Amino acid sequence: MAAGKPYILNTVKSGRNPRIPACRMLANEGRLSMNEILKLDNVEKYYGNKANLTKAVDKISFSVEKGEFVGIMGASGSGKTTLLNCISTIDRVTAGHIYVGDKDITTIRGNELNKFRREELGFIFQDFNLLDTLTGYENIALALSIQNVKPKEIDSRIKEVAKRLGIEEVLNKYSYQMSGGQKQRVAAARALITNPKLILADEPTGALDSKSSRYLLESMK
Ligand SMILES: Nc1ncnc2c1ncn2[C@@H]1O[C@H](COP(=O)(O)OP(=O)(O)OP(=O)(O)O)[C@@H](O)[C@H]1O
Ligand SMILES: [Mg+2]
Repeated sequence: MAAGKPYILNTVKSGRNPRIPACRMLANEGRLSMNEILKLDNVEKYYGNKANLTKAVDKISFSVEKGEFVGIMGASGSGKTTLLNCISTIDRVTAGHIYVGDKDITTIRGNELNKFRREELGFIFQDFNLLDTLTGYENIALALSIQNVKPKEIDSRIKEVAKRLGIEEVLNKYSYQMSGGQKQRVAAARALITNPKLILADEPTGALDSKSSRYLLESMK
């Protein structure tokens, strides 16, 4: 659990309800203690209205320390994606608080929110979310070019991550020309290349064989 390493939350389909390791259940309320990097405090996300209410996330509290690798398990429809979407600020919580570093990300807005998304967060989507009009290379490069990284540096970082994830041969392909597993690895490369503080991965190995899964999970550590 080395300080400075990213923490990773990934999801796995299994069991009946979302399960979070018991040791991580919230001990103290409010802001983070020294080694914690993420803390959820009574997070709720409800969809619909009173007549037709879905409690997708119902009062979830837990915390994660620096360098930890935490899996969230739960049956299909149990709220795993919703929970990650709340942490990544794609979705707004109905109630509760989420702390990352020194920020309550449920209350930040504007430039501070953009900076958090751009610089601190790496998200691997369940359905990949690659841009169809860009090649694999361009999809990965985008994350760095919006941070004004120089093209030469972008190129060497992409080559390095592509080698690590075994996607060198699809860098010039568009997503419709890639297999599901190749798309998933390009999406992972895009999330990892900025060296984010926090990586959220929604079933990141769902489309991969066991060997590729192992490589991907190893490269996230
Ligand atoms: N935008 C939405 N509007 C209404 N209900 C929603 C919305 N998004 C998700 N839900 C509902 O919230 C619940 C949780 O969905 P979620 O996608 O988080 O599940 P999941 O655990 O990720 O499932 P899977 O393993 O199939 O990916 C489901 O009952 C789903 O129908
Ligand atoms: Mg899901």
